Parts: sequence; structure tokens; C-alpha cells
Amino acid sequence: MSLISKLRGKTTARKPIGKVTSLGRLANGGSEPEIPPVTGEFRVNDGPHYLDVLAELHRILRPDWYLEVGTREGRSLALALGNYVAIDPDFHRQSPPLLPGKRAHFLSLTSDDAFASGFLEREGVRPQFGFLDGMHLSEFLMRDFINYERVATAGSAVALHDCLPFTHAAETRDDAVIATGKPWTGDVWKVVWWLLQHRPDLKVTVLDAWRSGLVVIEGLDPANTVLSGLYDRFVAEMRDIRLQDFGTDRYFAAFDVHSSSRFIETLRKAKA
Ligand SMILES: C[S@@+](CC[C@H](N)C(=O)[O-])C[C@H]1O[C@@H](n2cnc3c(N)ncnc32)[C@H](O)[C@@H]1O
Repeated sequence: MSLISKLRGKTTARKPIGKVTSLGRLANGGSEPEIPPVTGEFRVNDGPHYLDVLAELHRILRPDWYLEVGTREGRSLALALGNYVAIDPDFHRQSPPLLPGKRAHFLSLTSDDAFASGFLEREGVRPQFGFLDGMHLSEFLMRDFINYERVATAGSAVALHDCLPFTHAAETRDDAVIATGKPWTGDVWKVVWWLLQHRPDLKVTVLDAWRSGLVVIEGLDPANTVLSGLYDRFVAEMRDIRLQDFGTDRYFAAFDVHSSSRFIETLRKAKA
């Protein structure tokens, strides 16, 4: 809780803006999520499930190449409609989506090693859309973003997961939380903050996707070196700060959270 909230002795209520009605997944077979009460400084992301939003983005953007960091058992990868590269040092592969006539590469490496391997350049892979959902520590996501942008095409888009934490317990840097089965967003929210401060050329749209948001970044520029130049400063200034010390209200005041459904409709019309 921020100091101001503490002094006022009350929590900041945030109005849910989305519609719990989903784009598909939750309406078709999935159980409706139990929406927890808004607690403290956090907000409820009551938009569609993030996988539904990603599915729509695939249908609208139709990337020739999709690149994913962090696949686990493939729930997000299963949404790919074209060629793809999946990067994860620990795949829990079930049945990978093998699409007729399309190419698929699984790089069983950390994302740092996968990008450093030169594989993407050798194969001529220039993703137009990506999903960065690997290690949920801010410096890892920052490197993933920098590396993704470097190999992407000009104007490519990418989505980031878990940048809207919903409790302070979830935004800890202690990844031992994963083994407990409790929700863990890690501290990747810091990357959104940094992009908003240092890359005004990017279009950063924060969406209300259930449960921890989805951030869609458009207009990537592979020639831009601002973030790599600032990387050491990012780590020094941001890595060890906790959200409550940074200011939860300060972070959430830095952007509007948009309705995923409206964003998708607008994007669909723009690409039609
Ligand atoms: C949250 S899961 C991905 C979930 C998946 N995207 C989905 O939506 O179903 C995170 C994954 O990141 C992977 N991961 C952890 N460290 C990584 C790293 N350094 N590079 C790439 N992936 C990593 C983990 O093995 C795990 O499978």
C-alpha cells in the first residue's frame, strides 16, 4: 500500500473496466473465474482470458513467423497459425501444433542462449509477432525484449504477460513461489515502466486480460539501441526495488488499462 493510502487509512478502489464475458475460452467450456475483490492498490483485470486475447491477435496479425519465449506445455503456442519458433529450456511438450506447410522450431535453451546462438539469423527468421512469457524477472524480460526487437521486422508487435500484478505476494522476485503453486507474476512490471519512460516511439497498450494483464507493444524498431544502452542502468535502478517501495499507485497511474475486446475490434478494423 502506498504511503498516501496508508495515511488516508483506506484503499484505492479501482473500477473494473472490462467485461467478464470472454472472447471464447471461458465461455466455451472453461469455468468462469472467481473474480476476487479489489484489494489494496491493485486492480481486477476482468477482461477476457489472456489466451483468448492472444488467439485473436494471431487471427488478426497473421504473422508469417511467431516467436515465443516461455512455452511450458504449449497453451499459448497452440494458438500459432503460421511458422513459429518456441524457446524454453524446459518444455513440457504435449502435442505441439504442427501446421501443414508451416515450419516449426523448438529451441530447448534459455532465451539468452537461443538468441545468442545465431539460429534465428541463420534460418532467416524475422518474427512479426511474439509473446515473451519466459523467466519472470525484470532483467530477463528486458533482455528478451531487446533481443526480440533486434531480430524482429520493423513495425513488428510483441505481447508481454503478467505485467499487472494483483498482489504483493505475486510480484516478489523469489521464484520459489512457482513450486508452491501460488500465482507468481514476478517483477516484470518494471519493463513496462521502463519502456514508457524511455521508448516513447513505441505504441504500448496495456490490456485488461484476465488475470495479470497483457501488454501489446507495436511499432518495434530493430535498429533502435536505446534499451541495450540503458540495460545496466535498468538493472541498477530497478532490479531490487519492490513495487510497494516504488509506489503501486505510481506504477498503475503511468498508463490506462484498456478493454481487450475494444482493442481487438479496433485492431481488426485497422488491419481489414
Ligand atoms: C509461465 S510459463 C509459460 C507459459 C505459456 N506461455 C502459456 O501461456 O501457457 C514460463 C516458461 O518459461 C520458461 N523459462 C524459464 N526460464 C526461461 C529462460 N531463461 N528462457 C526461456 N524460457 C524460460 C519456463 O521453463 C516455463 O516453461
